[in-house]
Amino acid sequence: MRATREEILKEADRYYDWIIKPELTEEEKDQVVQESIPNFNQFVNPGWLEYRKSVSTDATFVEWSDHDSVFADTHGVEFLDCLGGYGIYTCGHRNPEIVKAVKCQLDRYALHSQELVDPLRGFLAKLVAMITPGDLQFSFFTNGGAEANEMMLKLARLASGKTFFISTVLGFHGKSMGAVSATGKAGYRTPYLPLIQGFQHVEFGDASAVEKAIKNLITVGETVAGVIVEPIQGEGGVIIPPDDYFPRLREICDKYQVYLCVDEIQTGMGRTGTFWGVDHWNVVPDIMSFGKAFGGGVMPITGIVARPQLWEKMEENPWILGSPTFGGNPACCAAAIAAIRFIVENDVPRQCKEKGEYLLKGLRAIQARRPILRDVRGKGLLIGLEYPSDVIGYAVSKALFKNRILVGGTLNNARVFRIEPPSVIRYDEMDRVINTLDRVLGEVRLEFPGPY
Ligand SMILES: Cc1ncc(COP(=O)(O)O)c(C=O)c1O
Repeated sequence: MRATREEILKEADRYYDWIIKPELTEEEKDQVVQESIPNFNQFVNPGWLEYRKSVSTDATFVEWSDHDSVFADTHGVEFLDCLGGYGIYTCGHRNPEIVKAVKCQLDRYALHSQELVDPLRGFLAKLVAMITPGDLQFSFFTNGGAEANEMMLKLARLASGKTFFISTVLGFHGKSMGAVSATGKAGYRTPYLPLIQGFQHVEFGDASAVEKAIKNLITVGETVAGVIVEPIQGEGGVIIPPDDYFPRLREICDKYQVYLCVDEIQTGMGRTGTFWGVDHWNVVPDIMSFGKAFGGGVMPITGIVARPQLWEKMEENPWILGSPTFGGNPACCAAAIAAIRFIVENDVPRQCKEKGEYLLKGLRAIQARRPILRDVRGKGLLIGLEYPSDVIGYAVSKALFKNRILVGGTLNNARVFRIEPPSVIRYDEMDRVINTLDRVLGEVRLEFPGPY
């Protein structure tokens, strides 16, 4: 039932004050914690806290601030962030240069008129053309990763006039209807079947399987618009393809005139040690989607960039692909421009490469001594640690959480968890991760007797 004006204002006033206050009193901090749990249970989603991804069993940790490589709770307890927002925080938490650009833009104007020319969109699109490989040129900006992939799929269909997509088993492209159709995991797809028709999933890393699927579809009279694929499967468990996979996909796509649609939402912006994941193999996609770190860890902005010839049909109607109200808004563009500047100026890809190598070396040394850690794999600062079972992986993430280290472990897929820290993570912080994991594995090993 709708509340009275007085009731609404009483609550809104309290929340507003907490937001604008530089420092909460001890009483207010407790209040925020006390109110957050029932609010989630009553107004967000009753199952959220029980089923949420976090491995914390102690719900007194309520995030309130962040900086550099850490998240802090209301009471200032700091967590070293090796989950990194699944790739959002490549430039660090609240990177001051990026925050400054957004604040300055907000002091001028935040969102676009929807009629006048908005210059920051043009500035950003030009920079995107400058940082992406080959002749990728025209950009379309969106608000979330799934939405960017929707645009990628729609553009491939629109430009080719063809229908089918080849995607990969365990690939993850988001949860909107088109994106989840491309996604290769039953748990995400089954509740929504029948999904968008025309997606054929083949094993990741197997270029011949892609060619076979395209050939078979053409033989039976279908048409294939694109192959949609991540450079490294993130959600699928940090799966790195063989080195000839992407060059072969490029050849196959050229041979059958199918668009190579690469989802760089998690792997882009330096994360894997090169600016883009495809740079490991010097391959130029026809369309590329990007997101997560693109907004500098400060603002949500995603998008696609594609070769000029794909946009020809759009010239007749530039809005046919979509016209998202907030896509490419000035506040978000300011963040993305500042993020690109920061990444190029500080050679973030190189930092991710070097720090990734340091972490991998330390983690592999642990693996050699502790077989409960089945596998350590990764590129740059996208690292996967594999355990013999979900329960063990979950126990390790939980123990790390207790030691104030966040990792990308999840309840329903914890056999592999991800380590994706910000590129600004310090070497002493990485040592802390390595040493804590070593100790935690010794403890978890005692809980799970087995041949480890
Ligand atoms: C490779 C990839 N594509 C798409 C998405 C979906 O992005 P979003 O959650 O912003 O919709 C993700 C998110 O994890 C991702 O990792």
